[in-house]
Amino acid sequence: MCGIIGYIGYKNSLPILLDGLRRLEYRGYDSAGIALIENDKIEILKKAGKVSDLQDKLKNYSSQSTIGIGHTRWATHGAPNDINAHPHNNSDNSIALIHNGIIENYQTIKKKLLKDGCKFQSETDTEVLVHFISSFYKNGNDLFTATRLALSEVEGAYAILVISAKEKNKIIAARKGSPLVLGIGENEMFVASDASALISYTNKVVYLDDEEIVQLTSNNFVTKTITDEEIEKQIEKIDLEIGQIEKNNFDHFMLKEIYEQPESVKNSIRGRVLLEEGDAKLGGLQDFHDQLKKTKRIIITSCGTSWHASLVGEYIIEQMAGIPVEVEYASEFRYRSPVINSDDLIWSVSQSGETADTLASIREAKNKGAKTFGIVNVVGSSIARETSAGVYIHAGPEIGVASTKAFTSQVAVFGLIGLLLGRQRGMQIDQGRIIANEIISLPEKIKKALNCVDQVKKIVDEFKNTSNFLFLGRGTNFPTALEGALKLKEISYIHAEGYPAAEMKHGPIALIDDKMPVVFIVPKDNLYDKVMSNIQEVRARGGRIIAIANDDDDEIDNFAEFVIKVPRTLNYFGPILNIIPLQLLAYYMAIARGCNVDQPRNLAKSVTVE
Ligand code: AGP
Ligand code: GLU
Repeated sequence: MCGIIGYIGYKNSLPILLDGLRRLEYRGYDSAGIALIENDKIEILKKAGKVSDLQDKLKNYSSQSTIGIGHTRWATHGAPNDINAHPHNNSDNSIALIHNGIIENYQTIKKKLLKDGCKFQSETDTEVLVHFISSFYKNGNDLFTATRLALSEVEGAYAILVISAKEKNKIIAARKGSPLVLGIGENEMFVASDASALISYTNKVVYLDDEEIVQLTSNNFVTKTITDEEIEKQIEKIDLEIGQIEKNNFDHFMLKEIYEQPESVKNSIRGRVLLEEGDAKLGGLQDFHDQLKKTKRIIITSCGTSWHASLVGEYIIEQMAGIPVEVEYASEFRYRSPVINSDDLIWSVSQSGETADTLASIREAKNKGAKTFGIVNVVGSSIARETSAGVYIHAGPEIGVASTKAFTSQVAVFGLIGLLLGRQRGMQIDQGRIIANEIISLPEKIKKALNCVDQVKKIVDEFKNTSNFLFLGRGTNFPTALEGALKLKEISYIHAEGYPAAEMKHGPIALIDDKMPVVFIVPKDNLYDKVMSNIQEVRARGGRIIAIANDDDDEIDNFAEFVIKVPRTLNYFGPILNIIPLQLLAYYMAIARGCNVDQPRNLAKSVTVE
């Protein structure tokens, strides 16, 4: 979803705003704009397109402003064009506002405003909000109060910044359902959708929570709830380094993050594997071991790639600990009045920790009295703060819209959780030690799995103009097939589907002809022969076979046109190694097809709207 950046201090705000918008581009957007308070007037400069297009528009613009707000828009209401881009202003241009989210009752409010003679320039829900705030502002309230009063009547999700030419020494910020974080400087303050836009200037941050509103000046901030209670917020330190959010010598963030996986998985398991005891230690769950012991069922809610990792988690926890696990699309779970028992545990998985559907599933579970845990990458994110406990995956910032290192780290963390739960419930120490040793070996094995670029490029050359791909796997490699398909479709725009390999004969086999590339994930495990039979079924119909197999398999080469081999591992962790060539396949296919790898069309890194 869109990006928000605000600055108030003593420096020229324009370069800071543009730098912040560039750092937030990875979140996905279609338009960009800024508002500055210049000589007691509000100047708004905005346009559809990229931040670089906005920069071109501004190249002859000279500014002395030291306060401003910037926005990248991911359109929900109104086409991505110049008029609908943010910021939006009120009729006398005394207020400018930027917004992430959706004002769900904007039509009701708009009707009222139209009756009062309000004129609208755009089709957006956001513009309704700036005029609504203005209606309270004109009644003699200051900007802080006017914004709070308006928001108390708003339904939906928002992260907003508001500035006024009449109160040019403050920025008002507020959030509900979309993230905002303050950056605390020396006589300067920052506010942004996430810390990546602040880290060049400060590592002191304050995370806003839902229904909180803050008045920022250059050396202070006052926080209230929307219901007008003053609240104290803690200043926290983040250990993000600027190098972690740079591409360094990679062409794209996605490629950098694919190659970071030996390191990111090592960071996910660091200090958490007890080799001698054949067990796992997870600090975030330390105080909940009794709760975990009593848990009769785990319901995992997530979206997208995190949902695929959750499916692997289901296999892992059921096989290691014998606890029933259900995996739910968060967007479905939240609306189907799920049956939740008091000894159920709802575990939500999210890289960003801000996905609206996943956040809503947690709130639904809490409303039903369930305990909620998280598995999250972004420290301090909403899901991390709204769940009772959880495990950070410590994969480091993931900037590429296509999730890669988060997936492998999520599966590794599920391995740790499965081991911990299993050892609580009767898993023998010897079995625990085998699993613990395998977890420790994964980073080195990932390094080996990465040595497949030449084979991947051959496959890309052969199939770069194809319109369809099938991905098939069994057991924990069924989710791997789903994930491989998602990677390919979301960055190369080739239609791809993942299936359990056995499911082919129940319909999809009708798709097989000599133009259909079929990726089989076929490790030498207990299902190898079954998958080999499925390969034969596809070969018999002329399908083009691409196999992801183990490096000690010398049979597969006789049955597949293309073979990529990765090291063997326990079934639980097969997805971590088998997904590597599929991530690279998606990456190089997208490059061959001229797609925008880090910012694929229509997609956002963190989907903070429903
Ligand atoms: C995966 O490549 C996509 N970017 C998307 O499916 C993503 O996994 C999904 O939106 C969930 O995001 P989260 O893990 O941040 O909650
Ligand atoms: N709903 C607003 C619009 O469509 C904001 C969308 C966003 O989050 O960027 O302009």
